Amino acid sequence: MDTFINLNIVPEKDIVAAFDHMTAVKSKIPSPAYAVVRTLGCQMNEHDSEKLAGMLENMGYTIVDDYKKNKVDLVIFNTCCIRENAEGKVLGRLGELKMIKRSNPGMILAVCGCMTEQPHIVDIIKKKHKHVNLVFGTHDIYRFPAMLEKTLETGRNVYDISSTRGEMAEVPEGLPIRREDKTKAWVTVMYGCNNFCSYCIVPYVRGRERSRSPQDILNEIMRLDAEGYKEITLLGQNVNSYGKDLAKNNEKPCSFALLLEEICEKLESNKESSIKRIRFMTSHPKDLSDELIDVMARHSLICNQLHLPVQSGSTEILKKMNRRYSRDQYLALVDRIRAKMPDIALSTDIIVGFPGESEENFEDTLSLVKQVRYDSAYTFIYSPRVGTPAASSPEQIDEETVKARFNKLLDAHNTICKEINDTYLGKTVEVLVDGPSKNDPNHFSGRTSENKIVNFIVDENKISKKDIVGKLIDIKITGIQTWSLDGEM
Ligand code: SAH
Ligand code: SF4
Ligand code: F3S
Repeated sequence: MDTFINLNIVPEKDIVAAFDHMTAVKSKIPSPAYAVVRTLGCQMNEHDSEKLAGMLENMGYTIVDDYKKNKVDLVIFNTCCIRENAEGKVLGRLGELKMIKRSNPGMILAVCGCMTEQPHIVDIIKKKHKHVNLVFGTHDIYRFPAMLEKTLETGRNVYDISSTRGEMAEVPEGLPIRREDKTKAWVTVMYGCNNFCSYCIVPYVRGRERSRSPQDILNEIMRLDAEGYKEITLLGQNVNSYGKDLAKNNEKPCSFALLLEEICEKLESNKESSIKRIRFMTSHPKDLSDELIDVMARHSLICNQLHLPVQSGSTEILKKMNRRYSRDQYLALVDRIRAKMPDIALSTDIIVGFPGESEENFEDTLSLVKQVRYDSAYTFIYSPRVGTPAASSPEQIDEETVKARFNKLLDAHNTICKEINDTYLGKTVEVLVDGPSKNDPNHFSGRTSENKIVNFIVDENKISKKDIVGKLIDIKITGIQTWSLDGEM
């Protein structure tokens, strides 16, 4: 069906209305009804998917994990557009789903997330993928039930692309969340990003920074604590600018350091508290305050780990990237952090082949990596994103040069990573157990406070396999891999 309804014209900013639409959908769908939610991208997207799955469950759908094995009633793709390959994957899958829909024409296909906030992608879907019934962006996912109701009612495709509403979008509270993991939970502290790094699409597809109120965040954490969660990760594209926008809504200003302090104090004051670890991401180096360093150092609840994306070790490139710190400022920040927390595990993101990156600029990145000695580093090849300033730079770097630099960086980092891991040999570490390995039910894995992956065999004389998931246990490290540790109970 090529006629479509644009829901933008009936903005409904009411979460209560969302629940009415959920009830309406429930009366319209078969029972049982099955749904699949596929997610690409970062933790924000994973967490949005937990909300989509929560709404689906509320509407009477059972969540299953494969649309090829089972005949399902609804499939959602929650997409990412941070690099080109993320987008390629989705467009490939949509082609594949065309075939699946041929044998299951009643199936509803929805595409949402960051990718669909880009007008050129919506055009591609409208023209080439008319089998997609619902298209919506990142801002108002609580409007999904209204859209679903509309498509069920009319049989027409429904689009709701609201990227321009980023600044006004309200922070949605009270949506049902379906958390698959019963040990570790994500909690959003803020949405959006105001930084406009010159390579990055996120500010365009996620809108301006909007902080949740400290009380809403605390309430959610206390609920998770009561439910027995062990670890919380606070999420935001740049958690260090948390709270700057609160005054606009007549709320008391609050910084991320203050929020974190309040969360720790509240949890520490309860002896029965189940939450034992707090992490957060992502920290922009330009906004990381000394107060935050102090709070981290003071509270053992906060993990001994920090993700601090540097992107490049060259001041010249950092300037072109609009990161608003220099190499020296970044290194000084690392020194301040390590002065208070000498054994903190640092991780980072690095982009190789940013337009204009000279051999000398790249060598600066290499030397910074050798100087900081990160516990882990996510390295990316620069990918031009439509509409960002860097994409139209005439100084794009050829693929061969970038690949050679990328491999050189990876080699240098891997050597350091292995050397750091070697220092763990013979030590006993506390591990929060995730679960058994996919390939071998006797092998379990978990993470340390430093976020190191530890693999070990369960000693059933000490604890049964079914009881171990979600427990904090001591593991003695007996073997070292590049990206993980092996140990014994
Ligand atoms: N808000 C986070 C980053 C989120 S995106 C922060 O500022 O740290 C995660 C990472 O993807 C970024 O840190 C960056 O290293 C990488 N990235 C973003 N845009 C990219 C692009 N166009 N090409 C390659 N890597 C990119
Ligand atoms: Fe992108 Fe920069 Fe915002 Fe991170 S801080 S999401 S890299 S614009
Ligand atoms: Fe991707 Fe959007 Fe996250 S572009 S990395 S899913 S914020």
